[in-house]
Amino acid sequence: MIELKNIYKTFNPGDVNEVRALQGLDLLLEVGEFVTVIGSNGAGKSTLLNLLAGVYPTDEGTLTIANRDVTRWQEHQRASLIGRVFQDPLRGTAGSMTIEQNMAMALLRGKRRGLRIGVSSKNRNFFREQLALIGLGLENRLTHKVNLLSGGQRQALTLLMAALTQPRILLLDEHTAALDPGTAEQIANLTTQLVRENSLTTMMVTHNMQHALSLGNRTIMMHRGKIILDVRGEERARMTVADLVKKFAENRVITDVIALSN
Ligand SMILES: Nc1ncnc2c1ncn2[C@@H]1O[C@H](COP(=O)(O)OP(=O)(O)OP(=O)(O)O)[C@@H](O)[C@H]1O
Ligand SMILES: [Mg+2]
Repeated sequence: MIELKNIYKTFNPGDVNEVRALQGLDLLLEVGEFVTVIGSNGAGKSTLLNLLAGVYPTDEGTLTIANRDVTRWQEHQRASLIGRVFQDPLRGTAGSMTIEQNMAMALLRGKRRGLRIGVSSKNRNFFREQLALIGLGLENRLTHKVNLLSGGQRQALTLLMAALTQPRILLLDEHTAALDPGTAEQIANLTTQLVRENSLTTMMVTHNMQHALSLGNRTIMMHRGKIILDVRGEERARMTVADLVKKFAENRVITDVIALSN
C-alpha cells in the first residue's frame, strides 16, 4: 500500500518565485492499483512523482510505501522500492552500454554499491526471456548498444527494466508523450501487460485523455497541487473522454473561483 498524508511542497518559499506545488494532498493506493494521473500544466503531477521517488523532501506530511514510513528517506534509499520511466526515452537507459549491461544495471538498482555490472549466463537467459515477452525482437540484440535503438524500442526497454525488480510502485511520467502515435499505443499496451504480469502498483501521468480512461483502474485529476477528481469502478467505466474534458473545465473554473475568493 502507498499512502500520502497531508503532503505540502513549496518551491522557493518566501521568494517572488514561490510556487505552492502541492497543497495538502492525500492519496491512498492499494497494492496492484493502476492510477492514471491527469491535470493541466503545472498542476503538480511531476512534483508528486518526484516526492514519491525522494528527489526532494516534503515540507509537511507523511509518505508510506509498503508499510514503511519513507518520508525522511533519501532517493537512493528508496531506489529498490521504485521504478521510474520519464518522457524522454534517453533518460532511462545508458546509450553507450549494451542492452544486457543496462538490464544488469537495473537488477542492481538499490543494492549495495561496488557490485560489478557483470552479465552471467544465467542473467543473460533471463534477459532474453524477458525481452522476448515484449515482442520487439530485442532478445536477439543483447550485445547491441542501446543508442542504436529507436525511441520506442528504448522506451520499451526502460519500461521492462523498471518492472524487472518488481518495484513497490511504478512511476510513469508522460512516458508515451515523445513517441509517434503508433509507438505510443505499443508502449501503452506494453505498460498494461507489464503492470498486469507483475501486479505492479502504478501511477501514470498522461495528457492523453483516452489513455487516462482506458489504461489502469482509477483516474485522478490534479489542479493547483490538489486532487480534484478521483474516479474508479462503475463511475469510471461509464465516463467518456468528453465527460473528462468537461470535468476538467468545470473543476478548473470552480477551483479558480475558490482561489480568487481566498
Ligand atoms: N524544482 C523546481 N523548482 C521550482 N519550481 C518548480 C520545480 N519543480 C516544479 N516547480 C513548479 O511547481 C509547479 C508544479 O510543477 P509540476 O512539474 O509538478 O507540474 P506538472 O503537473 O507535472 O505539469 P506538466 O503537465 O507541465 O508536466 C509548477 O508551477 C512548476 O513550475
Ligand atoms: Mg510534469
